[in-house]
Amino acid sequence: MKELNVKVVGNREIVPGIYEMDIQLPEDIAFRCGQFVNLSVGDGAHLLRRPFAILFYDRKRRVAGVCYQVKGEGTRLLSEKKEGDGLTCALPLGNGFVIREEERRVALIGGGVGVFPLLSVLEEYKDSDKHFRSYMGFRSAAYVDSFGAYDKRSDFVSVSTDDGSFGKKGTAVAAFFDDYEQAKPDVIFACGPTPMLRALKAGLKERGIKVPCFVSLEERMGCGIGACLVCVCRKEGGAENVRVCKDGPVFEIGEVEI
Ligand SMILES: Cc1cc2nc3c(=O)[nH]c(=O)nc-3n(C[C@H](O)[C@H](O)[C@H](O)COP(=O)(O)OP(=O)(O)OC[C@H]3O[C@@H](n4cnc5c(N)ncnc54)[C@H](O)[C@@H]3O)c2cc1C
Ligand code: FES
Repeated sequence: MKELNVKVVGNREIVPGIYEMDIQLPEDIAFRCGQFVNLSVGDGAHLLRRPFAILFYDRKRRVAGVCYQVKGEGTRLLSEKKEGDGLTCALPLGNGFVIREEERRVALIGGGVGVFPLLSVLEEYKDSDKHFRSYMGFRSAAYVDSFGAYDKRSDFVSVSTDDGSFGKKGTAVAAFFDDYEQAKPDVIFACGPTPMLRALKAGLKERGIKVPCFVSLEERMGCGIGACLVCVCRKEGGAENVRVCKDGPVFEIGEVEI
């Protein structure tokens, strides 16, 4: 993990309320998909940095990209950043996703901003022999384009919207179970709101599906480096806790209470 001063080299609204920001690093850093950056919002009054998945890294230009949805004050401040502005960050943080050698067929299940860490998986494995089937869920059609640039990297893409304004009406988890017999994945990666991950966990259990499944949790965070315990969540079936920032954010779905 490094503490770095970085420069904003791009910050544009790609769909209403969702921005892609590119930051230039002063030195080359190695990343794994699913890892994240804790980024300052460039305002002395907001000292806590905000965690975002690292979507891609262009080693030649030393530029890392994040996509974020404007939620509260911190992301609103970020949306006002201009090319040339300076920010500070800590990166890379967390464990990330790993596809093992023997795992060929990968199912990606994403909801809302949870789509972004999964796009980093498609980016990292774009030249590999892995086969992806993606099930992405959005609130409405307005958000679908934030996924558009990456869908060609999957053998199969299912887009669902809560209101049915694009693709299937319903959730990404329902779309995954509908397609399960065709997909027969060797491993499942998921990220999204807690109710979505809960539905996935319950659905796997009900159907007796034992395929390895890893979820990236989006807990509220403070320090991002394991020191403040803001992000703790409970281990399944015990009194022990894990820190999402340091021990995760990616966990085997049976390992944590969701
Ligand atoms: C590992 C990880 C990766 C993430 N990746 C992305 C991403 O790629 N794109 C994206 O749009 N969002 C992502 N999020 C969620 C994003 O960090 C929050 O939406 C953002 O911090 C909200 O900040 P705010 O100041 O606008 O909101 P406020 O609600 O005003 O934030 C107040 C405080 O709560 C924290 N907080 C609020 N919501 C979250 C949340 N869901 N997760 C963690 N901390 C939160 C903030 O950091 C801040 O300290 C990720 C979260 C985690 C933990
Ligand atoms: S955010 Fe501080 S311990 Fe995880």
